Amino acid sequence: MVRLLVRTLACATLGLGALMALAAPAAAGDAAAGKTVFASQCAMCHTATKGGPTILGPNLYGIVGRKSASLTGFAYSSAIKASGITWSTDQLKAYLPAPAKLVPGTKMAFAGVKNPTQLDDLVTYLATLK
Ligand code: HEC
Repeated sequence: MVRLLVRTLACATLGLGALMALAAPAAAGDAAAGKTVFASQCAMCHTATKGGPTILGPNLYGIVGRKSASLTGFAYSSAIKASGITWSTDQLKAYLPAPAKLVPGTKMAFAGVKNPTQLDDLVTYLATLK
C-alpha cells in the first residue's frame, strides 16, 4: 500500500516535470536579456519608449499587435507598406533573423538576429513594450 502510494507520487512528480519541460519552449525568452539585445543591435536605429523619436527606423513601442508600416510620420518603404504584416511575436521571429528575406526591398538595412536564444529574448522584450 505504501509502495503504491510512493509510486503514485513518483508518477505525479514525473508527470509534472514532463509538463513543465513541454511548457518551457512556449514560455519563450527572458525580457531583461532581450533588452540588452535591443540595446546592442536595434537601439542605434529604433527607440522603444512611448512616443519616442524616429532615429533611422520607426519607434517600436507597442510593436507587437501593430500593423506594419502604420506609424504616422515615418517614411516607410513601399515594400513594407505592401507586406500586409501585422507584427505578432511569430511574425517578428520570422522577420528579425533576415528582414530582407521576409520583406524583400525593406529599407531596414540590418543583417538579422541569427542567434535563436537572443531572438526569443528580444521578442519577449518587445512584447513588454505596451
Ligand atoms: C540600420 C538601422 C536599423 C537597425 C540596426 C534595425 N532596424 Fe528595424 N527598421 C529600420 C528601418 C529603416 C525600418 C523601416 C523599414 C521599411 O520602411 O522598409 C525598420 C523597420 C522595423 C520594423 C517594422 C516596423 C513597422 O512599423 O512596421 C521592426 C519590427 C523592426 N524594424 C525591428 C527591429 C529590431 C527588433 C531591430 C534589432 C534587432 C532592428 N529593427 C534593427 C532600421 C533598422
